Amino acid sequence: MSGAVHAIANIFDAVSTPASSIASLSMLVIAVCVAIFVAVAGVLVYTIVRFRRPSADVDREPPQVYGSNQIEIAWTVIPVLIVIVLTMATARVITEVQDKRPDPGALAVTVVGHQWWWEIRYPLLGVVTANELHVPVSDAAHPRATFLRLESADVAHSFWVPQLAGKTDLIPNHPNTMWIEPTVEGTFLGNCAEFCGLQHANMLLRVVVQSPEEFAAWVEQQRAAPAHGHDGERVFLSLSCVNCHAVAGTAAAGTFGPDLSHVMSRDTLGAGLIPNTTANLRRWIRDPQVMKPGNLMPNMQLSDRELDQVHGYLSTLK
Ligand code: CUA
Repeated sequence: MSGAVHAIANIFDAVSTPASSIASLSMLVIAVCVAIFVAVAGVLVYTIVRFRRPSADVDREPPQVYGSNQIEIAWTVIPVLIVIVLTMATARVITEVQDKRPDPGALAVTVVGHQWWWEIRYPLLGVVTANELHVPVSDAAHPRATFLRLESADVAHSFWVPQLAGKTDLIPNHPNTMWIEPTVEGTFLGNCAEFCGLQHANMLLRVVVQSPEEFAAWVEQQRAAPAHGHDGERVFLSLSCVNCHAVAGTAAAGTFGPDLSHVMSRDTLGAGLIPNTTANLRRWIRDPQVMKPGNLMPNMQLSDRELDQVHGYLSTLK
């Protein structure tokens, strides 16, 4: 479908403009630190070997030296120069990453962190989804950066997809912004990087980078209204599912839980917890607390018949 799943989330394997800037800065800092380590450890080892106590004349002290202007100037000036270089390089990357303004027509996405899942809205496209951010691939001839507005519905979370950008926090009542510009198609994995409660570790994130054509097709599919008429639809709408979940074109308009209009088009359930298979969907509906203890969705105590109908209906929401 959309290429490989990049399962190892490595900041040095950057495939997006802000992540590449951060990776090269990290390499510079590491190189400077390695050079300092080698120089200091080298002098130390040389000194230990060269000036170790000779066994023959144990009582004689070596010549004593008091002060050296040259050495003191050197060990003051060199570190100051190193600090200046690192400061300037860091300031340049921070400016590059933080001062970027959206080009006209750039893709805008609002990401809302919840305990423990990601609400993903494309306000200009009329698409709402969860946990899987779809974006078009960028190339030098057609830069297509995606700009994210980060909000939180409850506590602080942090949006981190290491191959695409540095982490940015989602703070209640304080929207933050960030951007990504992936240049490789595929699925990139990320996670919430700020401890946000019991299931913080199961607040996983996927960014699906697609060709512009595939992305347009995905948007079309997500905008299409789900079909009516399934037996289970009436049952679903009669239960309290609708207080938390929305299905486009129905009376279900809840916003506490993920939008279910196209739930079957997603790869995972429970924010990356389990693959989205019909068997797993059924287990999830029967008792979400067994699979992800502490999440907001209670065991709805559905009868077997209700479970069949709700599961049957949701399975049609592609
Ligand atoms: Cu959300 Cu940690």
